[in-house]
Amino acid sequence: MTSKDWRIGVAGLGTVGAGLLTFLSERPGFAPAGGRVSVTGVSARSRSRPRPFDISNLPWFDDPVALATSPDVDIFVELVGGSDGPAKAAVEAALNAGKPVVTANKALIAEHGAELAALAEAKGAPLLFEAAVMGGVPAVKMVREALVGDDIRSIAGILNGTCNFILTEMEATGRSFGDVLAEAQRLGYAEADPTMDVGGFDAAHKISILAALAFGCAPNYAAAEIEGIDQVDLLDIKLARDLGYRVKLVASADRSPDGVLVRVHPSLAPLNHPLAQAGGALNALFIEGARIGRIFVQGPGAGAGPTAAAVAADIADVMTGAVRPVFQAPASSLSPFTPVDPSKSVGRAYLRFMVKDEPGVIAAVSETLAEAGVSIESFLQKPVENTEGVPIVLTTHAVAESVLMAAVERIAGLSSVLERPRLLRIARI
Ligand code: HSE
Repeated sequence: MTSKDWRIGVAGLGTVGAGLLTFLSERPGFAPAGGRVSVTGVSARSRSRPRPFDISNLPWFDDPVALATSPDVDIFVELVGGSDGPAKAAVEAALNAGKPVVTANKALIAEHGAELAALAEAKGAPLLFEAAVMGGVPAVKMVREALVGDDIRSIAGILNGTCNFILTEMEATGRSFGDVLAEAQRLGYAEADPTMDVGGFDAAHKISILAALAFGCAPNYAAAEIEGIDQVDLLDIKLARDLGYRVKLVASADRSPDGVLVRVHPSLAPLNHPLAQAGGALNALFIEGARIGRIFVQGPGAGAGPTAAAVAADIADVMTGAVRPVFQAPASSLSPFTPVDPSKSVGRAYLRFMVKDEPGVIAAVSETLAEAGVSIESFLQKPVENTEGVPIVLTTHAVAESVLMAAVERIAGLSSVLERPRLLRIARI
């Protein structure tokens, strides 16, 4: 451990950047390795945008690459966001200059993590990204370091605070999707482009990173199966609840002898399950290992304070020299995992069909399911005001996804079925 003064350059002054500067001003004694810590440069898209703190005394850089390579910067903190563009250019520039990089950028790590790890390790420069996954919950460190002595089989959880906030509020208040999304943006949970959140892409970035760390492979974001919450209907949230479930956006990564399956789907969790109980912007995660059994962690996955705390923890690791390979193993030994065909996966499902309220409809639906070999677990028909037709809702026993999809397609073609069937998976947790 070396006691020296550390000069930090911060690129990106949005929610997390603002949180970090606030943290450093509130904790002037933050110096885990001794010495002093100071911010010696900042960069952002706009210099004049109103901010919760004064940046007029901090050296300003129009170009984050210039900040990353400035001789006055010892640690480069990238909080710009985005998988490519200025964020990637600045991170590469810092690593090429042999400078430690701390980033909260999940898109960058999920999509370019392997090549950046190779660069970082070739240059002997740490590349740390605790804040990229689960905000204030130390999920990256836990999986990469604390659990390296186990063989992790599966990871599943809620990794997007915005979606969790939206689903929680919709269920609790009956408010519309758009109304609650606007509130999540005001609270600083959402990405600059909220499509990343509600489309499931942000959660897919995070689970791709965790899968790489857990299974000792390079991130393979392109192999993730992704479905967001933008098509989740308030009606399904209510009907799922009537059946004893809560709708959550669940991200999962499972390892089998065939390879790895990484998926993000709106899924049902039983009301008394810890995932169903993690409300608001909370994140929650189950990790299952061969020796440890199951671990469950929960905490704030978004927002300025928690995410800045994770960035500060990485800065502390750089200062103290507590740095490991970027992923679980040296970059030269990482290869992308083999993706598993999701249609072969087996699980339970929730189905809703809007049908004409006429004789024989339930029989036609259940006959089609029976012919396909799909076994019904529970069943509900409930008139709903202001809808054309009536919803038939059911849950199935475990069935191969390809079989279920084929049956749903056949039911969609029945003349008594009024709109596209809705399918939500029941989380395997
Ligand atoms: N937009 C993200 C979320 C922020 O809602 O979880 C943290 O990555």
